Amino acid sequence: MNLCVIGTGYVGLVTGSCFAHKGHKVVCVDKDAEKIRVLNDGGMPIYEPGLEDIVKACRKDKRLRFVTDIAEGMKDAEVIFVCVDTPPTASGTADLSAIENVARQIARHLTRYVVVVEKSTVPVKTGDKVHKTILRHAPKGITCDVVSNPEFLREGSAMKDALNPDRVVLGVTSPKAAEVMKKLYADVTCPVLVTDIASAELIKHASNSFLATKISFINAVAVVCEMSGADIQLVAQGMGLDPRIGSKFLSAGLGYGGSCFPKDVAAFEQIARELGFDFSLLGEVQKINQEMRQRFLRKVEEELWIVKGKTLAVWGLAFKPDTDDIREAPAIELIQRLLEKGASVQAHDPQAMKKAQKVLPGLTCCDSAEEAAKGADALLLCTEWPVFRDFPLAKLKKLLKHPVVLDGRNLYDPVAMRAAGFDYRSVGRA
Ligand code: UDX
Repeated sequence: MNLCVIGTGYVGLVTGSCFAHKGHKVVCVDKDAEKIRVLNDGGMPIYEPGLEDIVKACRKDKRLRFVTDIAEGMKDAEVIFVCVDTPPTASGTADLSAIENVARQIARHLTRYVVVVEKSTVPVKTGDKVHKTILRHAPKGITCDVVSNPEFLREGSAMKDALNPDRVVLGVTSPKAAEVMKKLYADVTCPVLVTDIASAELIKHASNSFLATKISFINAVAVVCEMSGADIQLVAQGMGLDPRIGSKFLSAGLGYGGSCFPKDVAAFEQIARELGFDFSLLGEVQKINQEMRQRFLRKVEEELWIVKGKTLAVWGLAFKPDTDDIREAPAIELIQRLLEKGASVQAHDPQAMKKAQKVLPGLTCCDSAEEAAKGADALLLCTEWPVFRDFPLAKLKKLLKHPVVLDGRNLYDPVAMRAAGFDYRSVGRA
């Protein structure tokens, strides 16, 4: 099929390249001319395992193109995916101006029936507004259908998630659009759930909010563990053995970050409020997430007393491993606070240093984990990259000025750390 993808951020780039990889002809559009130039020069605006190879192969086979002109992008398209940003406003609601703008532009260039697909995460009822906007601005007599097809990919495993999804959700109103979408996903082996548009929109917000709630719940339990002498990993293991709870997403630590959970939980709380329901549970979820960062900083200060004039090593800047994304990353906020308090911070991250350096000019980025640890008063582990997990403890002890390790991801074994002579603190473990 001929597809157009508007917005070449995470979701757009992965969606476009995966459909091209499956044999469709895809044109990706972005108004950011620099991004399109980079992509047309064979570069990648983001780090995502496997993405570059697929983009390269699809471009070579002429199944994937990158353009800035929306009219050119949608010229032959039967399906148009809208993958533009929906950033949070100060109140937490999603800013939908980019979606509205794209809806008007699509309408202006419509020459025949198309299916317009919401891929970006949007509040419930957005599909209706997109449909009305397109019909209002489209040439007389030309119709379209709007579909909500939320994307569930995770950064770091985005290609795998998009090529082998665990479910496909299609929120549709017309049988014609349902047929087109089912044809597009005919190859998938996972369940395909066809719903109304509002339900599909809600599935995405509710899923992300539920997962964030699971993380905040286990983090709150971790705090109780610290206060009672219990061990959060044993508690999580015991809880996770109940199949109704499941063992996934029960890792306590610095809490969630990234471009989705923080934004989606806030937006879901807000949309519920606008609809008349006070979803205060989600307020607590966000509060606990923030509290985990503050508690970690307090632990640093308890260990070092005055951080001013001290040198701190930070391992990990990305919000999680296998990505260079630092949006809402706990490490970034933590470093900002430490720099404000007069500490020097030397950090290493396998992928995220370039992006971190841009937002934290006072940060010293080091080429290796070893270099970052050298001469530091303490080591703060913020992202559980394998390179940090596998680092020899004896070597680490020699590198640090003082053998103090604060582990924000429970990466190390407390018994082994103490046996190796470290002052070691983690989350929810004695
Ligand atoms: C998430 C959803 O998983 C995905 O389905 C959706 O499409 C986008 O948002 P992503 O933001 O890539 O994906 O990250 P994910 O792997 O889900 O992790 C989110 C955050 O939760 C990370 O900061 C991670 O460190 C944290 N986390 C995860 C925990 O703190 N504990 C856990 O047990 C699991």
